[in-house]
Amino acid sequence: MSQANVRKSFPEQFKIYQSAVEKGLDQSLKVFPCRQRKVLEAMRYSLLGGGKRIRAILVLEFARLGGVLMEQAMPAACAIEMIQAYSLIHDDLPCMDDDDLRRGKASCHIQFGEATALLAGDGLLTCAFATICRAADCFPAQRILAAIQKISEYAGYHGMIGGQMIDLESEGKKIDPKTLEEMYSLKTSALLKAACTSGCLLAGREDLVPAAEAYAQYLGLAFQIVDDILDITGDQALLGKPVGSDSQNEKNTFVTLFGLNQAKEMAKEYTQKAQYQLTCLGAKQSFLEDLTDALLNRLQ
Ligand code: IPE
Ligand code: IPE
Ligand code: MG
Ligand code: MG
Ligand code: MG
Repeated sequence: MSQANVRKSFPEQFKIYQSAVEKGLDQSLKVFPCRQRKVLEAMRYSLLGGGKRIRAILVLEFARLGGVLMEQAMPAACAIEMIQAYSLIHDDLPCMDDDDLRRGKASCHIQFGEATALLAGDGLLTCAFATICRAADCFPAQRILAAIQKISEYAGYHGMIGGQMIDLESEGKKIDPKTLEEMYSLKTSALLKAACTSGCLLAGREDLVPAAEAYAQYLGLAFQIVDDILDITGDQALLGKPVGSDSQNEKNTFVTLFGLNQAKEMAKEYTQKAQYQLTCLGAKQSFLEDLTDALLNRLQ
Protein backbone atom coordinates (compact mmCIF):
# COMPACT_ATOMS: atom_id res chain seq x y z
CA MET A 1 0.00 0.00 0.00
CA SER A 2 1.23 3.51 -0.67
CA GLN A 3 2.27 5.92 2.08
CA ALA A 4 -0.85 8.00 1.34
CA ASN A 5 -3.15 5.11 2.32
CA VAL A 6 -1.47 4.06 5.55
CA ARG A 7 -1.66 6.49 8.40
CA LYS A 8 0.38 5.48 11.39
CA SER A 9 -0.21 6.76 14.91
CA PHE A 10 1.04 10.28 15.54
CA PRO A 11 4.27 9.31 17.38
CA GLU A 12 5.10 6.69 14.73
CA GLN A 13 4.49 9.03 11.83
CA PHE A 14 6.43 11.80 13.59
CA LYS A 15 9.46 9.51 13.96
CA ILE A 16 9.22 8.39 10.33
CA TYR A 17 9.25 12.01 9.25
CA GLN A 18 12.09 12.92 11.62
CA SER A 19 14.40 10.17 10.46
CA ALA A 20 13.59 10.78 6.78
CA VAL A 21 14.43 14.47 7.26
CA GLU A 22 17.68 13.61 9.04
CA LYS A 23 18.69 11.43 6.10
CA GLY A 24 17.55 14.03 3.57
CA LEU A 25 19.62 16.72 5.27
CA ASP A 26 22.71 14.56 5.38
CA GLN A 27 22.38 13.84 1.66
CA SER A 28 21.61 17.47 0.80
CA LEU A 29 24.96 18.65 2.08
CA LYS A 30 26.74 15.98 0.08
CA VAL A 31 25.31 17.18 -3.22
CA PHE A 32 27.55 20.23 -3.41
CA PRO A 33 31.24 19.46 -2.95
CA CYS A 34 33.31 21.89 -0.89
CA ARG A 35 37.06 21.98 -0.44
CA GLN A 36 36.83 24.43 2.46
CA ARG A 37 36.39 21.67 4.99
CA LYS A 38 36.06 23.84 8.06
CA VAL A 39 32.97 25.73 6.93
CA LEU A 40 31.30 22.52 5.74
CA GLU A 41 32.15 20.83 9.02
CA ALA A 42 30.54 23.71 10.94
CA MET A 43 27.46 23.58 8.70
CA ARG A 44 27.10 19.84 9.22
CA TYR A 45 27.69 20.22 12.95
CA SER A 46 24.78 22.64 13.32
CA LEU A 47 22.44 21.11 10.78
CA LEU A 48 22.62 17.39 11.54
CA GLY A 49 21.79 15.23 14.51
CA GLY A 50 19.59 17.57 16.49
CA GLY A 51 16.49 19.66 16.33
CA LYS A 52 12.89 18.59 16.38
CA ARG A 53 12.47 19.15 12.61
CA ILE A 54 9.03 20.67 13.11
CA ARG A 55 9.31 22.99 10.14
CA ALA A 56 10.45 20.26 7.75
CA ILE A 57 7.63 18.04 8.97
CA LEU A 58 5.13 20.83 8.28
CA VAL A 59 6.41 21.10 4.71
CA LEU A 60 6.02 17.34 4.25
CA GLU A 61 2.58 17.16 5.84
CA PHE A 62 1.11 20.13 3.94
CA ALA A 63 2.58 18.74 0.73
CA ARG A 64 1.00 15.36 1.55
CA LEU A 65 -2.38 17.08 1.92
CA GLY A 66 -2.01 18.12 -1.69
CA GLY A 67 -1.08 14.59 -2.79
CA VAL A 68 2.70 15.01 -2.92
CA LEU A 69 4.97 12.13 -1.87
CA MET A 70 7.42 12.63 0.99
CA GLU A 71 10.50 12.14 -1.24
CA GLN A 72 9.25 14.77 -3.67
CA ALA A 73 8.77 17.38 -0.96
CA MET A 74 12.06 16.54 0.81
CA PRO A 75 14.24 19.18 -0.93
CA ALA A 76 11.84 21.92 0.23
CA ALA A 77 11.68 20.43 3.74
CA CYS A 78 15.50 20.36 3.91
CA ALA A 79 15.69 23.93 2.64
CA ILE A 80 13.49 25.16 5.48
CA GLU A 81 15.56 23.23 8.07
CA MET A 82 18.74 24.80 6.67
CA ILE A 83 17.23 28.23 7.19
CA GLN A 84 16.19 27.21 10.70
CA ALA A 85 19.72 25.98 11.52
CA TYR A 86 21.33 29.13 10.12
CA SER A 87 18.97 31.32 12.13
CA LEU A 88 19.89 29.48 15.32
CA ILE A 89 23.66 29.74 14.66
CA HIS A 90 23.32 33.50 14.25
CA ASP A 91 20.83 33.82 17.12
CA ASP A 92 23.38 32.26 19.50
CA LEU A 93 26.27 34.55 18.53
CA PRO A 94 27.68 36.86 21.22
CA CYS A 95 26.32 39.89 19.31
CA MET A 96 22.82 38.41 19.57
CA ASP A 97 21.65 36.13 22.41
CA ASP A 98 25.15 35.00 23.36
CA ASP A 99 24.18 31.40 24.13
CA ASP A 100 26.79 28.67 24.45
CA LEU A 101 24.58 25.62 24.17
CA ARG A 102 22.37 24.53 21.27
CA ARG A 103 20.66 21.21 20.62
CA GLY A 104 22.53 19.68 23.53
CA LYS A 105 26.03 20.60 22.38
CA ALA A 106 28.33 23.61 22.23
CA SER A 107 26.91 26.38 20.00
CA CYS A 108 28.54 26.68 16.60
CA HIS A 109 30.64 29.73 17.52
CA ILE A 110 31.92 28.01 20.67
CA GLN A 111 32.97 24.98 18.67
CA PHE A 112 34.36 26.71 15.57
CA GLY A 113 34.84 30.38 16.46
CA GLU A 114 32.64 33.34 15.62
CA ALA A 115 33.82 34.01 12.09
CA THR A 116 33.34 30.40 10.97
CA ALA A 117 29.92 30.29 12.67
CA LEU A 118 28.90 33.40 10.77
CA LEU A 119 30.00 31.83 7.48
CA ALA A 120 28.40 28.48 8.34
CA GLY A 121 25.11 30.34 8.84
CA ASP A 122 25.52 32.15 5.54
CA GLY A 123 26.46 28.86 3.87
CA LEU A 124 23.30 27.15 5.16
CA LEU A 125 21.03 30.02 4.16
CA THR A 126 22.29 30.08 0.59
CA CYS A 127 22.40 26.28 0.38
CA ALA A 128 18.69 26.29 1.25
CA PHE A 129 17.87 27.93 -2.07
CA ALA A 130 20.16 25.64 -4.05
CA THR A 131 18.51 22.69 -2.29
CA ILE A 132 14.90 23.62 -3.04
CA CYS A 133 15.85 24.06 -6.70
CA ARG A 134 16.47 20.30 -6.75
CA ALA A 135 12.68 19.89 -6.53
CA ALA A 136 12.70 20.82 -10.25
CA ASP A 137 13.12 17.08 -10.91
CA CYS A 138 9.52 16.53 -9.77
CA PHE A 139 7.58 19.79 -10.13
CA PRO A 140 6.92 22.47 -12.75
CA ALA A 141 9.27 25.44 -12.28
CA GLN A 142 6.27 27.70 -11.61
CA ARG A 143 5.42 25.87 -8.39
CA ILE A 144 9.00 25.96 -7.17
CA LEU A 145 9.25 29.65 -7.90
CA ALA A 146 6.06 30.27 -5.93
CA ALA A 147 7.50 28.36 -2.96
CA ILE A 148 10.87 30.15 -3.20
CA GLN A 149 9.12 33.50 -3.26
CA LYS A 150 7.21 32.71 -0.06
CA ILE A 151 10.29 31.31 1.66
CA SER A 152 12.44 34.31 0.82
CA GLU A 153 9.73 36.74 1.94
CA TYR A 154 9.08 34.98 5.22
CA ALA A 155 12.72 34.32 6.07
CA GLY A 156 13.81 37.80 5.04
CA TYR A 157 13.73 41.34 6.35
CA HIS A 158 9.94 41.57 6.24
CA GLY A 159 9.76 38.23 8.00
CA MET A 160 12.09 36.48 10.43
CA ILE A 161 14.93 39.01 10.14
CA GLY A 162 12.52 41.84 10.96
CA GLY A 163 11.38 39.94 14.04
CA GLN A 164 14.95 39.36 15.18
CA MET A 165 15.58 43.08 14.76
CA ILE A 166 12.63 44.00 16.98
CA ASP A 167 13.82 41.39 19.50
CA LEU A 168 17.29 42.94 19.71
CA GLU A 169 16.12 46.53 19.68
CA SER A 170 13.71 45.96 22.52
CA GLU A 171 16.22 44.37 24.90
CA GLY A 172 16.18 46.23 28.20
CA LYS A 173 13.10 48.26 27.22
CA LYS A 174 9.41 47.69 27.81
CA ILE A 175 7.39 47.19 24.64
CA ASP A 176 3.59 47.18 24.24
CA PRO A 177 1.59 44.01 23.57
CA LYS A 178 1.05 44.93 19.92
CA THR A 179 4.78 45.23 19.23
CA LEU A 180 5.41 42.03 21.15
CA GLU A 181 2.88 40.16 19.02
CA GLU A 182 4.40 41.63 15.87
CA MET A 183 7.83 40.47 17.03
CA TYR A 184 6.61 36.88 17.58
CA SER A 185 4.71 36.87 14.28
CA LEU A 186 7.87 37.81 12.45
CA LYS A 187 10.62 36.00 14.30
CA THR A 188 8.72 32.73 14.79
CA SER A 189 5.44 32.49 12.84
CA ALA A 190 7.02 33.68 9.60
CA LEU A 191 9.27 30.65 9.07
CA LEU A 192 6.40 28.33 10.03
CA LYS A 193 4.30 30.09 7.37
CA ALA A 194 7.09 29.52 4.86
CA ALA A 195 7.04 25.82 5.77
CA CYS A 196 3.28 25.31 5.57
CA THR A 197 2.73 27.37 2.43
CA SER A 198 5.64 25.91 0.50
CA GLY A 199 4.13 22.46 1.04
CA CYS A 200 0.81 23.69 -0.40
CA LEU A 201 2.47 25.50 -3.29
CA LEU A 202 4.57 22.53 -4.37
CA ALA A 203 1.34 20.56 -4.50
CA GLY A 204 -0.21 23.28 -6.65
CA ARG A 205 -2.82 23.94 -3.95
CA GLU A 206 -2.91 27.75 -3.72
CA ASP A 207 -6.43 27.36 -2.34
CA LEU A 208 -4.98 25.95 0.90
CA VAL A 209 -2.52 28.82 1.42
CA PRO A 210 -4.77 31.21 3.40
CA ALA A 211 -5.69 28.55 6.00
CA ALA A 212 -2.08 27.30 6.09
CA GLU A 213 -0.84 30.82 6.78
CA ALA A 214 -3.42 31.49 9.46
CA TYR A 215 -2.61 28.14 11.08
CA ALA A 216 1.12 28.90 11.08
CA GLN A 217 0.53 32.37 12.48
CA TYR A 218 -1.26 31.02 15.58
CA LEU A 219 0.99 28.00 15.90
CA GLY A 220 4.00 30.33 15.90
CA LEU A 221 2.59 32.57 18.61
CA ALA A 222 1.85 29.57 20.82
CA PHE A 223 5.23 28.02 19.99
CA GLN A 224 7.19 31.12 20.96
CA ILE A 225 5.21 31.60 24.18
CA VAL A 226 5.99 28.00 25.16
CA ASP A 227 9.65 28.59 24.23
CA ASP A 228 9.70 31.62 26.54
CA ILE A 229 8.02 29.65 29.35
CA LEU A 230 10.56 26.85 28.96
CA ASP A 231 13.33 29.45 29.18
CA ILE A 232 12.16 29.90 32.78
CA THR A 233 10.69 26.59 33.88
CA GLY A 234 12.48 24.17 31.54
CA ASP A 235 15.15 21.59 32.21
CA GLN A 236 18.35 22.53 30.40
CA ALA A 237 19.32 18.89 29.87
CA LEU A 238 16.02 18.24 28.05
CA LEU A 239 15.88 21.57 26.26
CA GLY A 240 19.45 21.34 25.01
CA LYS A 241 19.87 25.10 25.29
CA PRO A 242 20.43 27.44 28.23
CA VAL A 243 17.64 28.21 30.67
CA GLY A 244 17.45 31.82 31.88
CA SER A 245 18.87 33.32 28.67
CA ASP A 246 15.91 35.66 28.14
CA SER A 247 16.07 37.27 31.57
CA GLN A 248 19.83 37.60 31.30
CA ASN A 249 19.37 39.49 28.03
CA GLU A 250 16.41 41.48 29.41
CA LYS A 251 14.18 40.21 26.60
CA ASN A 252 10.55 41.12 26.23
CA THR A 253 8.39 38.01 26.23
CA PHE A 254 4.74 37.14 26.90
CA VAL A 255 5.92 36.02 30.33
CA THR A 256 7.56 39.32 31.25
CA LEU A 257 4.55 41.24 29.98
CA PHE A 258 1.67 39.09 31.26
CA GLY A 259 3.15 36.74 33.87
CA LEU A 260 3.62 32.98 33.72
CA ASN A 261 -0.01 31.92 34.28
CA GLN A 262 -1.53 34.29 31.78
CA ALA A 263 1.16 33.44 29.24
CA LYS A 264 0.24 29.74 29.62
CA GLU A 265 -3.44 30.57 29.03
CA MET A 266 -2.55 32.62 25.96
CA ALA A 267 -0.49 29.76 24.53
CA LYS A 268 -3.57 27.54 24.96
CA GLU A 269 -5.82 30.09 23.26
CA TYR A 270 -3.50 30.46 20.27
CA THR A 271 -3.27 26.68 20.03
CA GLN A 272 -7.08 26.49 19.85
CA LYS A 273 -7.09 29.12 17.12
CA ALA A 274 -4.47 27.12 15.21
CA GLN A 275 -6.63 24.01 15.62
CA TYR A 276 -9.63 25.88 14.23
CA GLN A 277 -7.66 26.82 11.11
CA LEU A 278 -6.97 23.13 10.51
CA THR A 279 -10.71 22.56 10.20
CA CYS A 280 -10.66 24.97 7.23
CA LEU A 281 -8.34 22.66 5.27
CA GLY A 282 -11.15 20.30 4.23
CA ALA A 283 -10.67 16.74 5.48
CA LYS A 284 -9.85 16.01 9.12
CA GLN A 285 -6.16 16.51 9.80
CA SER A 286 -5.38 14.16 12.69
CA PHE A 287 -1.59 14.36 12.36
CA LEU A 288 -1.55 18.15 12.37
CA GLU A 289 -4.05 18.27 15.24
CA ASP A 290 -1.84 15.99 17.32
CA LEU A 291 1.30 17.90 16.37
CA THR A 292 -0.31 21.20 17.38
CA ASP A 293 -1.22 19.83 20.81
CA ALA A 294 2.15 18.16 21.25
CA LEU A 295 3.90 21.47 20.65
CA LEU A 296 1.83 23.14 23.35
CA ASN A 297 2.74 20.45 25.85
CA ARG A 298 6.37 19.94 24.86
CA LEU A 299 9.31 19.99 27.28
CA GLN A 300 11.99 20.55 24.64
C1 IPE B 1 13.85 27.39 18.24
O1 IPE B 1 13.03 26.58 17.47
C2 IPE B 1 13.65 28.81 17.84
C3 IPE B 1 12.31 29.33 18.16
C4 IPE B 1 11.52 29.80 17.25
C5 IPE B 1 11.87 29.37 19.53
P1 IPE B 1 12.86 25.03 17.77
O2 IPE B 1 12.45 24.84 19.20
O3 IPE B 1 11.96 24.44 16.74
O4 IPE B 1 14.34 24.49 17.60
P2 IPE B 1 14.89 23.12 17.00
O5 IPE B 1 14.95 23.29 15.52
O6 IPE B 1 13.98 22.02 17.42
O7 IPE B 1 16.26 23.01 17.59
C1 IPE C 1 13.67 32.73 18.20
O1 IPE C 1 13.85 33.19 19.46
C2 IPE C 1 14.92 32.65 17.40
C3 IPE C 1 14.90 32.76 15.95
C4 IPE C 1 14.03 33.29 15.17
C5 IPE C 1 16.10 32.21 15.34
P1 IPE C 1 14.79 32.67 20.62
O2 IPE C 1 16.05 33.45 20.67
O3 IPE C 1 13.95 32.66 21.85
O4 IPE C 1 15.15 31.17 20.26
P2 IPE C 1 16.01 30.21 21.21
O5 IPE C 1 15.31 30.16 22.54
O6 IPE C 1 17.39 30.79 21.30
O7 IPE C 1 15.95 28.88 20.52
MG1 MG D 1 16.80 35.26 20.02
MG1 MG E 1 18.01 32.71 21.35
MG1 MG F 1 13.96 31.24 23.41
